[in-house]
Amino acid sequence: MPSYRIAAIPGDGIGCEVVSAGIEVLEACARLEKGYDLQFEHFDWGSDYYKRHGVMMPADGLATLRGFDAIYFGAVGAPDIPDHITLWGLRLAICQPFDQYANVRPARLLPGIQSPLAGVGPEDLDWVIVRENSEGEYAGHGGRSHRGLPEEVATDVAIYTRAGIARIMRFAFELARSRPRHQLTVVTKSNAQRHGLVLWDEIAAEVAAGYPDVQWDKTLVDAMTARMTLKPRTLDTIVSTNLHGDILSDLAAALAGSLGIGPTANLNPERRFPSMFEPIHGSAFDIAGKGIANPIGTFWCGSMMLEHLGEKAAAARLMRAIERVTADSSLHTPDLGGTATTKQVTAAVCAAL
Ligand code: NAI
Ligand code: MG
Repeated sequence: MPSYRIAAIPGDGIGCEVVSAGIEVLEACARLEKGYDLQFEHFDWGSDYYKRHGVMMPADGLATLRGFDAIYFGAVGAPDIPDHITLWGLRLAICQPFDQYANVRPARLLPGIQSPLAGVGPEDLDWVIVRENSEGEYAGHGGRSHRGLPEEVATDVAIYTRAGIARIMRFAFELARSRPRHQLTVVTKSNAQRHGLVLWDEIAAEVAAGYPDVQWDKTLVDAMTARMTLKPRTLDTIVSTNLHGDILSDLAAALAGSLGIGPTANLNPERRFPSMFEPIHGSAFDIAGKGIANPIGTFWCGSMMLEHLGEKAAAARLMRAIERVTADSSLHTPDLGGTATTKQVTAAVCAAL
């Protein structure tokens, strides 16, 4: 029987609440499916660790994670530590060295959940956003100098490489081909960003030539926000740069009901390094500690993790249980307009399994 080693990094705020709920559900699923076993190991890295040690994770953190089959991550961010320190100190410090270049974010209307868009049902909103996760606007190139002086300067240089664009385009076209509609939208901004995103467009067209069965189009990122809102049905698989994908996927989650529902897989598709699974939301200071965080996004990314590990039946079983629970509005948390707690939703998913 395969036994998978999972590194659990709950992080901060509601990250801790949703990851412990997720582990409960994943363990219940493993007990019922019987064909595999999950071994969770817990890491207390995050903002409290930073306050004690001056770093978000220990120097040998990556070497420790290297031996795991997957990483189950919550969220980082604390009100009293600058966000760039927490994000670059932990989440990006894992994604980048582990070359998790494909960030996959499904968004669809689960049963029982209403979109804030009038008249939009499950058949109208079923997307997967593929966000380039290793370069672009979050490559980490840049700096600050002349601090405090009137001539102080700060730069964040967006980096686009042929290799980086080609691999994310191939990944997105493959994913589009695996879905029933065989359709891909390439998000761009090549009218204003006339170097990097022109290269982006050119390579999209080159890669597209190898996928004649995939219908593809291009949309400028600003127009894309309107298209997602007004014509959701015209979209299926979507590929975008790092920053654009970050922004559009929060919009997608909100249009699909709540930020608390959106899942993320940070994949190293070649499997040279462990991949990381996390909800798309952050640590949510405003509701942390209240026991009302929606754990559905974390459950859904648990299902994506099972799929990645090759446990397809378990992944499908968990997804069916999630959908059975969302279909019952008495089990909706406050972000969905209900009154259920994290614990109640978790118990209901365990029962539905
Ligand atoms: P956020 O995603 O934490 O919260 C935005 C809004 O959505 C809040 O009103 C929150 O209550 C609500 N929300 C989010 N997840 C929810 C859930 N599961 N159930 C119910 N409601 C939910 O984003 P925000 O407020 O911009 O950032 C808070 C902190 O999180 C910051 O420090 C930020 O840097 C960090 N962050 C970390 C991320 C990560 O670790 N991957 C991603 C996004 C933000
Ligand atoms: Mg984000």
